[in-house]
Amino acid sequence: MEGIILVEFTHRTFSTLTGLLILLNAYWQWKVHPNDRMVRILSVLSIVLLGSVAVMGGINVLQKLPSGLTAIDMALAALLLAELVVLMVRVNGRTESGAELVAESDDAITKGRREQEILAHKRVLKPAAAVVAAVYSEILLGGFFKHSSASYTYVHPAAPLQNELVTRFATAELVMYIHMFAGFFVVLSLFWLFVHAKKQNLFVKPSVLLLILAGIQGFLGFFSIATKLELLTTTAHMAVAALMLMIGTYVAAVAQQVLAGARSAQRPATKFSSGQTAISNG
Ligand code: HEM
Repeated sequence: MEGIILVEFTHRTFSTLTGLLILLNAYWQWKVHPNDRMVRILSVLSIVLLGSVAVMGGINVLQKLPSGLTAIDMALAALLLAELVVLMVRVNGRTESGAELVAESDDAITKGRREQEILAHKRVLKPAAAVVAAVYSEILLGGFFKHSSASYTYVHPAAPLQNELVTRFATAELVMYIHMFAGFFVVLSLFWLFVHAKKQNLFVKPSVLLLILAGIQGFLGFFSIATKLELLTTTAHMAVAALMLMIGTYVAAVAQQVLAGARSAQRPATKFSSGQTAISNG
């Protein structure tokens, strides 16, 4: 019992501190990027998502929602994590590379090379977006699998059913197979990204890392079942899912930033709006 109280206390302390950091970060970014509309939108969005996670967490505790619905909290938290990665990429000034890539040059060879680099980012963007979508969907499915207690029912078929959403062992089994087979789409999207990354010689390391993490994730998933949901294994499974989402979002956000930077650098100077000045102030 004491252990549970300690875990709950640590969780609440960490979530309060993380929340404060997110608020502070949003305020700071808003302040130091007065001309970058996108940074300001993303800063506000981080506060909105943080608020939603907190409200949803509160509702979960106070209203005793059907347990599968508690996964909504986790889904919002994962969205917040991905959104913070996009904000980080934006404020790190990756758009500068996009602007540099289309900078005027007398040298036709340099210009051609720059155009090729922009094209390379364009080719990587679609598979990277597919990775983000696949990993996020898999996180939703996994969250439902766990929070509906379908996973518990699946590994303890003789135990009384845990809740009102998954009322039969067969349903629990179905949720399990959907989650497991959705993993194939994650792997497919990762190979798609890897092939393009290798071809364009861009983001090769993150795509290899993602493939390795997918292997580890599959192992942890099966090991969770074999050990009847041993705590450390299932916790690591969640952590690797978060890591995969972060890396995938990072690649997609950088590719998108470079393209956005290149596009606005190509526009005539008179058409620049305050939001597009981000290219220079990154
Ligand atoms: C890239 C692929 C995968 C991702 C991103 C992923 C993600 C997740 C997530 C986010 C959860 C919820 C964890 C939590 O709320 O603590 C989960 C649960 C689970 N996943 Fe996966 N998963 C993947 C593949 C697999 C595979 C291949 C298996 C093997 C069957 C598997 C088995 C499980 C099990 C058994 C649970 C329930 C854990 C519990 O009840 O504590 N997962 N998954």
